[in-house]
Amino acid sequence: DWSMENFIDTEISRIRALVGPTAEVIGAVSGGVDSTVAAKLMTEAIGDRFHAILVDNGVLRLNEAANVKKTLTEGLGIDLTVIDASEEFLGKLKGITDPEKKRKIIGHTFIHVFEREAAKIKPSHEGEEIEFLLQGTLYPDVIESISFKGPSQTIKTHHNVGGLLDDMKLKLIEPLRELFKDEVRHLGELLGISHDLVWRHPFPGPGIAIRVLGEVTKEQVEIARKADHIYIEEIKKFGLYEKISQAFACLLPVKTVGVMGDQRVYEQVIALRAIETIDFMTADWFVFEAKFLKHVSSRIVNEVDGVARVVYDITSKPPATVEWE
Ligand code: XMP
Repeated sequence: DWSMENFIDTEISRIRALVGPTAEVIGAVSGGVDSTVAAKLMTEAIGDRFHAILVDNGVLRLNEAANVKKTLTEGLGIDLTVIDASEEFLGKLKGITDPEKKRKIIGHTFIHVFEREAAKIKPSHEGEEIEFLLQGTLYPDVIESISFKGPSQTIKTHHNVGGLLDDMKLKLIEPLRELFKDEVRHLGELLGISHDLVWRHPFPGPGIAIRVLGEVTKEQVEIARKADHIYIEEIKKFGLYEKISQAFACLLPVKTVGVMGDQRVYEQVIALRAIETIDFMTADWFVFEAKFLKHVSSRIVNEVDGVARVVYDITSKPPATVEWE
């Protein structure tokens, strides 16, 4: 496409002019399409003067931090530092069951960790200084009056926290702020980002913490993660991933009786969600074939310790939200 290729050239020139010959840039990445596209664009524009940070909050998907590291570093040549802050996040989440409190704790801890780690990043070249913060803000995030609850992790609230980023006086750089999601995907494809990453379902900033209902512990996250991994793997095998807008597994902290072999078990419940939507403001639940549901259910119960029952969520939005918390 002529216009998007044009956008890349124009945007790279604009970034170079804005950043100048010696300043350096840092930015958080999540493994999602927006932050990856923004990071790749920045790397194309200024090379190793851009530094990406991935904060592993302990509630990412199965093997996510390692996969992002591999894709961004080896695949896309982005300078990336992975910070394992799992224990810190899980420690703060201990005993917390209220969904909004979980969100706040994760948001605040993220900013705190990001600021602390950003301050440790050294410029790649002598005499240079980190002056800019990259954000993968899209156009719908910009028009906050429409109050679209964007699925991407955001750190735009950092102004209210008054931490290091303010002390470092970082200037914001938002190369995607005029683009819609489909345009970002197109841009990602032109920048050589893999089809799988470009077409990934959105994943909320608070991650699996809002998909483990009730208290979030390492053990509960592990169960939810394994079940989710099997579910998504099967969705892909059945060729359904791109027909679905978003799919995930939730762990319900409810014990239920079952029988496995000749043993009576008393374990928890996994709820599967899959939706089709245009804008995430309204959504329909996805109609799977019985064959698919039977297969996924038996795999989850057989392969994931701690699960005795699987249910499928047949509620549209509204009245239900996409996430369970
Ligand atoms: P709901 O549950 O509100 O979800 O119907 C709509 C879309 O937003 C995502 N979502 C979030 N994304 N932080 C995020 O970054 C959040 O706290 C959050 N809550 C929901 C959800 O995954 C869906 O795509």
